[in-house]
Amino acid sequence: MSATRRPPGPQGHWIWGHVPALRGDMLAFFTRCQQEYGDMVWLRFVTRKAVLVSHPDAIEQVLVHDNRNFTKNFALRFLRPVLGQGLLLSEGELWRRQRQLMQPSFNRDRVEAFGPLIVDEAQKLRDSWREGGTIDLHGEMVKLTLAVAAKALLGVELADDYDTVCRSQLAILEHFRRRCESNVRPPLWVPTENNRRMNRAIHDLRSLIERIIRERSESRASAGSAHDERDDVLSRLLQARAHAEDSGMSDTQLRDETMTMLMAGHETTANTLTFTCWLLAEHPHVEARVLAELEEQLGDRPPTVEDLPRLTFLDKVLKESMRLYPPAFAVGRRAIHDCEIGGYPIPAKTNVLISQWVVHRDERWYERPLEFDPDRWTPEMMERLPKYAYFPFGAGPRRCIGSSLASLEAALALATILPTVSFERLNPGPLKPWPTVTLRPANNVQVRVKPREAALAR
Ligand code: HEM
Repeated sequence: MSATRRPPGPQGHWIWGHVPALRGDMLAFFTRCQQEYGDMVWLRFVTRKAVLVSHPDAIEQVLVHDNRNFTKNFALRFLRPVLGQGLLLSEGELWRRQRQLMQPSFNRDRVEAFGPLIVDEAQKLRDSWREGGTIDLHGEMVKLTLAVAAKALLGVELADDYDTVCRSQLAILEHFRRRCESNVRPPLWVPTENNRRMNRAIHDLRSLIERIIRERSESRASAGSAHDERDDVLSRLLQARAHAEDSGMSDTQLRDETMTMLMAGHETTANTLTFTCWLLAEHPHVEARVLAELEEQLGDRPPTVEDLPRLTFLDKVLKESMRLYPPAFAVGRRAIHDCEIGGYPIPAKTNVLISQWVVHRDERWYERPLEFDPDRWTPEMMERLPKYAYFPFGAGPRRCIGSSLASLEAALALATILPTVSFERLNPGPLKPWPTVTLRPANNVQVRVKPREAALAR
């Protein structure tokens, strides 16, 4: 193998490389790269070298076996002004210590205790919809997941702050997307329109997070921290902050972690719920089977965590939804040292892009990959499927810390909402996904809310 052998790849612009290609349809571009050039595709974003890696074995190597040779890549760092050194972006010893500190709050038994809260929030949301009224489905799902993240992870109610978080989130996602697809990235102090919106979003979110921390610190102080019964993530963080001499956690670190929990803890789950409801509305025969299962297992009572192992078809629907519309559509890394991936020498500092969107739609692993077919998830198929051909929550030590919460939340929310309400699609055609940090619907998702009996009689 020659040391200079490089993976193949499309011809890019002589200065900008493949930045202009990202500006068009980014998902189609990555898919085309894999289909035309294979599992290792060489790309360049101005001066940054990158390789798109799409084989499950190579994915396992980067995210699992050799994970210590990789840090997060440049694109995720565009989020640094918002998330600072929170868990999603921190590295090395800091990351290890913080992950260890927070992990117990995400263990299965702790997460299962949130079941009643999730069902309660889903019922409140469903009951707030007017029969025959029109809603933005995605906006509503964001309301639900935000309320759950705030209460379950931070122990607070957000009520009036909902609009602030949604507006800020959108500004951050747009800023991120612009940074990915521009050749010129003015620093945040340059007062461009885009930067102004981003700075306002950061300011508003920080004020909110600082208020949440203040409120919780005061209530701990008045209860006496020894008597604070709550054991959510924020309690653990506050406790560690109180013993900063052992934990080394600063106020800024506490703020970054709290911000990360709120922002990472709601957006992706909301995307899953929206895409799943849309897919079900598009495929009434699949929806009818979900309803039959819910009827058989629950009758007309609300779901509980104990019901979930018996809701096997709903589980397949969610798996299939996250296959076709992975809420995190790509993860990025950067090589620390020279290494070899997929038989090619990869120099230090190369960015490694791994896309769930591409791998989850690869016909080598999935028959008729573009079809929504929950029945494909048989035990035999899962046995055959290469382990890293399906990884909606990432893989290795940096795998999503909130995956159990997200899966439980999505299943319970759907099992609460679907038996009584159906959604009539008002946007024509398939849902267009918008890839930014996450994969979310490109436009408002207008649906008419119909009570279920009326929907069945239609
Ligand atoms: C369907 C919902 C979700 C999906 C698809 C998802 C996906 C992911 C993925 C792919 C990663 C790995 C990123 C990488 O390797 O660079 C990740 C990391 C992370 N996720 Fe999630 N996530 C979801 C829900 C949640 C929830 C509910 C939380 C709650 C706090 C959360 C918090 C985090 C955090 C903090 C990290 C960084 C973990 C670390 O590096 O140690 N996510 N997520």
